[in-house]
Amino acid sequence: MPVLHNISQLATCPPDNPQADAGLISNAALVWKDQSICWVGRLLDLPSQYSAEPVVDCDRRLVVPGLVDCHTHLCFGGWRGNEFESRLRGASYQEIAAAGGGITGTVTATRSASIGKLQRRAHAFLDEMLKLGITTVECKSGYGLDEASELKQLEVYRRLDEAHAVDLVPTFLGAHIIPTEHSQHRDRYIRLLCDVLIPGIAEQGLARFCDAFVEEGAYTTAEARRIFTAAIEHGLQLKVHADQLSDGGGAEFAAEMGAVSAEHLEYVNDRGIAALAASGTVAVSLPLASLYLGEPYIPARKLMAAGVPVAVATDFNPGSAPSYHLPLAMTLACLNQSMTPQEVLNGATTIAARAVSAQEHIGSLLPGYQADLAIIDAPSLNHWLYHFTPNACRAVLKNGRWI
Ligand code: NIG
Ligand code: FE
Repeated sequence: MPVLHNISQLATCPPDNPQADAGLISNAALVWKDQSICWVGRLLDLPSQYSAEPVVDCDRRLVVPGLVDCHTHLCFGGWRGNEFESRLRGASYQEIAAAGGGITGTVTATRSASIGKLQRRAHAFLDEMLKLGITTVECKSGYGLDEASELKQLEVYRRLDEAHAVDLVPTFLGAHIIPTEHSQHRDRYIRLLCDVLIPGIAEQGLARFCDAFVEEGAYTTAEARRIFTAAIEHGLQLKVHADQLSDGGGAEFAAEMGAVSAEHLEYVNDRGIAALAASGTVAVSLPLASLYLGEPYIPARKLMAAGVPVAVATDFNPGSAPSYHLPLAMTLACLNQSMTPQEVLNGATTIAARAVSAQEHIGSLLPGYQADLAIIDAPSLNHWLYHFTPNACRAVLKNGRWI
């Protein structure tokens, strides 16, 4: 039973704490056995039964739960660096999409990439994410948009969940946009989603969640309702890309459908905030997407004041958020969403875990939780998120094993 000691500050991030309280303990120690945490507290209070156990010295560093990136589009073909320049020259994300670039460009590249190539690429991204202290990643399909290519993306996730130390939570995002070949008959594609893909994916256990992009140029709420009705029938939980580029009533829709999370919410209105609070839906903030698209940041203070938990994630994808750097997103959430470091850390651990319905197992450093943690080279949480460095993570314990 190894003991982690000489921790200058440890964040326990209990799931039942208010978001503003990350359960910080100074001069802490932590004990784990096999894959689970057994004891956490002040070093002074370490029970004598553990005093003869092997010790790992944290050298006065910060210890946090393994980070949970609860919104990524991890598997994709190609990049879109050319569009980066077009956007800097003034073209909007929507104009680029209307001209056949954007998500459609990535769909073409993803369809033509082999499963092995996609897997190797996503594996390499996960290696880098793990080094940053990320131990669980939600990952969406949605760059295939035909039967074979959506299944290919989800199969990459299934294989990587086995092959890689990082735990994956797969989400089916067949309703990302309407693929070009179906643009004249949307209904045919929606029927493919409802009658073929959702039942098949659910039966094979290839996804835990179903997501839809509710936005002008993507899906209407009426279409998403049909898709979600099929998803619920087949036992999938719901997530929504809501109110990202305009106020389209996406938050209210997510609440009405009982979605676990409503993601983006850059343009959420007051009715949407009230609806999310009433339904217990998690708001997932994606500050890197706001940064890259020049869109407003989510009104995090308003959401939290209304009682909506606010998670922080990357949205890693080749277009709107081409970075998997969750600690950068966390610092941006402090600076641009006026969230405190404790609110942000809860948002990237226990609240992110709640956004993937796993808050009883991961995202907290409490007895019984999975032994996933990161040792951060900073004396405190405030210091970590204030002094941004390429990577402050010095070691990661995943499922009780050092990586
Ligand atoms: O979350 N909004 C829709 N989907 C992604 C962007 C995908 C892309 O640009 O390729 C997002 O921002
Ligand atoms: Fe996204």
